[in-house]
Amino acid sequence: MIQKWWQKAVIYQIYPRSFQDSNGDGIGDLNGIIQRLDYLAELGINAIWLSPVCRSPQDDNGYDISDYQEIEPIFGSLEDMQRLFREAEKRDIRIIMDLVLNHTSDEHRWFVEAKKSKSNPYHDYYVWRDGEEGHPPNDMRGVFGGSAWEWVPELNQYYFHQFSVKQPDLNWENPKVRRELYDMILWWMKKGAGGFRLDVIDQIAKDPDLKITVNGPRLHEFLQELSRETFQKGDLLTVGEAWGADIQRARLYSNPDGSEFSMVFQFEHIGLDQQEGKEKWDLKPLPFLKLKEILSKWQTSLYNCGWNSLFWNNHDLPRIVSRWGNDKEYWEESAKMLALLLHGMQGTPYIYQGEELGMTNVQYEITDYQDIEIRNMYRERMEMGYDEKDVMQSIYAKGRDNARTPMQWNDSKNAGFTDGNPWIKVNPNYKQINAHNQMKDTGSIFHFYKKLIQLRKDYEVLVDGKYELLLPKDPDIFAYTRENEHQKLLVICNFFENTPRMPLQEEWRDMELLLCNYDCAHNNDRYATTLRPYEARMYVKKKYETKP
Ligand code: NOJ
Repeated sequence: MIQKWWQKAVIYQIYPRSFQDSNGDGIGDLNGIIQRLDYLAELGINAIWLSPVCRSPQDDNGYDISDYQEIEPIFGSLEDMQRLFREAEKRDIRIIMDLVLNHTSDEHRWFVEAKKSKSNPYHDYYVWRDGEEGHPPNDMRGVFGGSAWEWVPELNQYYFHQFSVKQPDLNWENPKVRRELYDMILWWMKKGAGGFRLDVIDQIAKDPDLKITVNGPRLHEFLQELSRETFQKGDLLTVGEAWGADIQRARLYSNPDGSEFSMVFQFEHIGLDQQEGKEKWDLKPLPFLKLKEILSKWQTSLYNCGWNSLFWNNHDLPRIVSRWGNDKEYWEESAKMLALLLHGMQGTPYIYQGEELGMTNVQYEITDYQDIEIRNMYRERMEMGYDEKDVMQSIYAKGRDNARTPMQWNDSKNAGFTDGNPWIKVNPNYKQINAHNQMKDTGSIFHFYKKLIQLRKDYEVLVDGKYELLLPKDPDIFAYTRENEHQKLLVICNFFENTPRMPLQEEWRDMELLLCNYDCAHNNDRYATTLRPYEARMYVKKKYETKP
């Protein structure tokens, strides 16, 4: 049943701006990534998801593409990209590219043409509505604030943009647009791309007259055509970013017949610590029982009829150890617990750069933040009269720059990220938290991730085992089993700093401890009946063995 390489793989996400600078301009680049491939090979990952590196004015750090078939010069050249493909391949690592198909940059040649006149052949590549200045077609708002409509006086028309003004939406209703995109994808496949992550893919089939952005009526029709015309011609990993995915849609996205993608990023768990019906900035404590319920629902509902992506982090999300762990007293224990909890589940795990070191959130002055979303939100909320302290608390908790501070390689200047001036400040804790220290220390978070990746290769049950949640109502413990024909795994995670009694004593007495985030050298520790703060254990047993 498990036949695809990506079902057994672990993916590592690189945000190129912040990973490794090789030329001293303060911005990470492709040659920097090549220099660090051995580090990734040592970690044991199978593929890299590379956030966008195509030509872009960088209004949204590369998610505003002005040429899909050129590399942005701050990152390098097409030759560098091909060298990256080759060097990665030598280490058995595939490169998953980030496809931004919902919108382009306003500096893309298509949009520059489109703006020239209504009769220009590219005009219909974008979404336009007639109107009058100051009276947009409706009150739709962009994700980064402000109206979703931008006035172009020369044409007496508005164009539609779900993200920034510099990210006009493509018109997927136009078959010519779709064909152009497919040809571009086929071109990258020929160059050696091992797969694609599809940016906000559930927003392509919009209908602004009906105020529909997510899950438009023709969405799955478009996706099936896209897949048929491109991905199905190769052996690729494809993953759609779909904030609007529910179980039913996810079964379509990740249908095992390959008609759409390999898998989907769904975000139901990610929204749990925000107030109902409000924005991500409106914080509330994590409802732990709900987290268990939701993650478990996704595990069981896609079993044998879809495929999950497992992630806590990406370039849009705060650092998980600061978010749902404890980045102070139990930094190491909680980072490892969260890792074990996720990597024990079924699906393809994604590690976001620095997560394997337990990198943490930051608290900067407002002027030190670079992200367009943070800046716009700060301005808007201050104008609306919010208390600045609350606004800053939201940024500390949820701002995207938490994930975008430079990778912490060592304790030298700028954490070894650059010889120049980093484009965004380095997290001041880099002297304690860095790759160099952790690679030397076999008890580190880095080595814990390494073991988890290895376990996935050694234990098939981690890949194909059926998931079952235990103790759904326990207020401290997240426990579950994974089971296939031959083996059974038991995962027990203490999610907080309380010290609850170890449950399930019958279950685990005859199991072997595979991994623990505390020192478990002695039998007394392996089967200790009280869980220590954030303690996480994974046990295994061969089935059908007679009990001793
Ligand atoms: C989702 C990406 O992950 C995010 O970084 C970006 O700002 C938006 N899509 C727009 O492309």
